[in-house]
Amino acid sequence: MRLVMIGSGYVGLVSGACFADFGHDVVCVDKIAAKIEALNKGIMPIFEPGLAEIVRNNVYAGRLKFSLDLADAVKGADAVFIAVGTPSRRGDGHADLAYVYAAAKEVAAASTGYTVVVTKSTVPVGTGDEVERIIKRFNPDANIDVVSNPEFLREGAAISDFKRPDRIVIGTDSKRAEEVMRAVYRPLYLNEAPILICERRTSELIKYAGNAFLAMKISFINEMADLCEKVGADVQKVAKGIGLDKRIGDKFLHAGPGYGGSCFPKDTLALVKTANDHDMSLGLIEATVDFNEKRKRAMARKIVAACGGNVRDKKIAILGLTFKPNTDDMREAPSLSIIQALQDAGADVHAYDPEGMDPAREFLKEVTYGANGYDIAAAADALVIITEWDIFRALDFSRLKTLMKSPVLVDLRNVYKGDEVVQNGFTYVGVGR
Ligand code: UGA
Repeated sequence: MRLVMIGSGYVGLVSGACFADFGHDVVCVDKIAAKIEALNKGIMPIFEPGLAEIVRNNVYAGRLKFSLDLADAVKGADAVFIAVGTPSRRGDGHADLAYVYAAAKEVAAASTGYTVVVTKSTVPVGTGDEVERIIKRFNPDANIDVVSNPEFLREGAAISDFKRPDRIVIGTDSKRAEEVMRAVYRPLYLNEAPILICERRTSELIKYAGNAFLAMKISFINEMADLCEKVGADVQKVAKGIGLDKRIGDKFLHAGPGYGGSCFPKDTLALVKTANDHDMSLGLIEATVDFNEKRKRAMARKIVAACGGNVRDKKIAILGLTFKPNTDDMREAPSLSIIQALQDAGADVHAYDPEGMDPAREFLKEVTYGANGYDIAAAADALVIITEWDIFRALDFSRLKTLMKSPVLVDLRNVYKGDEVVQNGFTYVGVGR
């Protein structure tokens, strides 16, 4: 099959590369010439484990191409995926659909023959209807069906999420489009990926409802963590105890500094806005958003308390800046608010992250960046784990103790067993324990 990805960002690039790996012919299109040029040389615009290799192999095999020429790519394609960004619109939190609609216009002008136009970008309910209207307006003769097919890829695990999905959601009323989409995903039948066919609006809402539910689950366990601290219980055991109930499930119950990233914060906000537009409010999601926002600053207060109630002129060493491990993505990372709050309180912040320091420099200008965890720990008053990269899971505490001014570990991801750290002569502060 001939597939086109419009937008060679996270979703477009990962999906395009994986579709090519399954044997489809794929062209990934983007408007940024430097990005296309780099991709053609095998240079990835993002850090995602395993991606560069898949891209390289499929470019070499001639199944994956990168291009600036949307019109040429769309000609004769079986399916065209719109995978452009839908950032929060400045000022009101609605998803900004300008890039989606611009792509729709270009597809309208370029499509020849029957083409399935697939919205893969996260788009509010009703966007598919508007994309269809735009295409019909710009090219009344266009022979297209517009399908919703949301993505459920986690950064850092996107390749395995794509190849072994929990489910594939396809929103369309058209039998012909359904057949094309089934053929697109046929290679995944072997992996027994369940396909859910539903109406387009339902499919659009499934994406938001899924992310909102996961965000709510995280805020729930974080709130439980706060309660655990008050009553002397252990949140990790609480998570395990409730997670063993199959109706609840054990995933997304890790207490921490709050969720970040390019999806949960944006999508929860957009869902609340969608409900507001329909004269209702989503109290549970609003509470989730509000709790998560406050949590980041609360984590800064936890660090200050661990330092005796005052961080003025104290050196705080931060391990991990990205919103989660195995990505270089700093968007909405809890580290941003936590570090800002520490600096507001007068702390001298030093930080190390395996992949996130270059992107972090843009947001965190007053931070001193180090070569590794031990480098930044020298003469520090406290060491704080914000992101649980593997490299921070086996720290040499005796070495750290000789390096640090005072041996204090604030572990915002509960990476360590507190008593083991204490045995090494450290003061240990975890989350919800
Ligand atoms: C999320 C969803 O998990 C994907 O299914 C979805 O496709 C994607 O958004 C999207 O909409 O594009 P992602 O943002 O990459 O994926 O990362 P997650 O692994 O979901 O983590 C999000 C945030 O929640 C991170 O800050 C992470 O540290 C935090 N988290 C996650 C917790 O604090 N506790 C947990 O138990 C799980």
